[in-house]
Amino acid sequence: MIRNLLALAAVAILPTISMAADKKITVGFAQVGAESAWRTANTKSIKEEAEKRGIDLKFSDAQQKQENQIKAVRNFIAQKVDVIVLAPVVEAGFEPVLKEAKRAHIPVILSDRRAKVSDDSLYVTFIGADFIEEGRRAGEALVKITDGKASIAELDGTPGSAPANDRKKGFDEVIAKHPDMTVIMEQTGEFTRAKGKEVMEAFLKSPEGKNITALYAHNDDMALGAIQAIEAAGIKPGVDIKIVSIDGVKSAFEAMADGKTNCVVECNPLIGPQLFDLVADVVAGKTVAKRTDVKEGVFMQEQAKDELPNRKY
Ligand code: AHR
Repeated sequence: MIRNLLALAAVAILPTISMAADKKITVGFAQVGAESAWRTANTKSIKEEAEKRGIDLKFSDAQQKQENQIKAVRNFIAQKVDVIVLAPVVEAGFEPVLKEAKRAHIPVILSDRRAKVSDDSLYVTFIGADFIEEGRRAGEALVKITDGKASIAELDGTPGSAPANDRKKGFDEVIAKHPDMTVIMEQTGEFTRAKGKEVMEAFLKSPEGKNITALYAHNDDMALGAIQAIEAAGIKPGVDIKIVSIDGVKSAFEAMADGKTNCVVECNPLIGPQLFDLVADVVAGKTVAKRTDVKEGVFMQEQAKDELPNRKY
C-alpha cells in the first residue's frame, strides 16, 4: 500500500494537451544567463536539440536576474507556448508566475536548478544534477588531497541559487567530520570568472590571506579566475593552494593537466536530448517521473591529461 502511494507521489499527472499531429511544438526556454562556460554549453545543447527535432524554441537569456525570468515566463504564457522550460536563477520567488502558467494550462519543466514551491503540481518534472551530492564529492576530494587538514577559502555561487545552497550544504556535511578542515573565508563570486578573480585577490590581501591552503569554488569559472589572482600574488595554484571546483569544463581540465588545480567534480550541462524526450512525453500527455538525474563523475589531477580529449564542453 505504502509502496503504491510512493509510486503515485513519484510521478506527475500531466495536464492534457491536445495537439494536431502535424503542429510544430513550441517551447519557451527561460535560461539563467551566460555567466559561465557551463551555461554556454547548456544553452548550446538545448538549442541544438530543439533544432534537430524541429521544435520552435523561444529563448530568453535572463542575465542572472529573476525579474527578467519572470517577465520571460509571462511572455511565454501570453504566446501560448506548448511547454515552458525554466532554469530558475534562484530558488525562491517563482511560485506566483508558476501559478499563472498552471492557470493557463501550460506545463512547466524545471531544468538544471530547482525552485522552492509549496505545491509540487506547479511543475511537471525537474531534470538536473544532484547539487548536494556534488558538494559532498568536492568535500571528499579535498579531504583526500589535503589529508584532512586545510584552511579553506570558499567561492560561493549566486546567492539564493540551488547550486550555491546545495553545494555548500554537501561540502559542509563532509568537512564537519574533519576537525582540521576549516573554512576561514567565504564570499560569492557569482559563478563568473571575473568575480572569482576579484574575490580571490581580496582574500589574498586580507590579514588571513597568507593562511589559505585550499580553495573550494562552486564552479570552474570562479576557480579559473581565482587561479589568475593566485599566480599574480606569486603563489602556486594546485601546489601551495589546493583547488577543487565543480562543472568539468574543458579549460578547467587544461588547468588541471598543467597542475594548477587538483580536482574537478563533474556537473553535466549537455541535457538537451533528455530534456526534449521529456517535452515530447509531456506534450503526448504521458506520465513522467517527477525527477530525472544526469550522470556525473569526479576527476582527480592524475586523470586530467587522459580525460582532456574526451571533454565535450
Ligand atoms: O546551475 C548550474 C551552475 O550554474 C553551474 O555549475 C555554473 O557554472 C552555472 O553558472
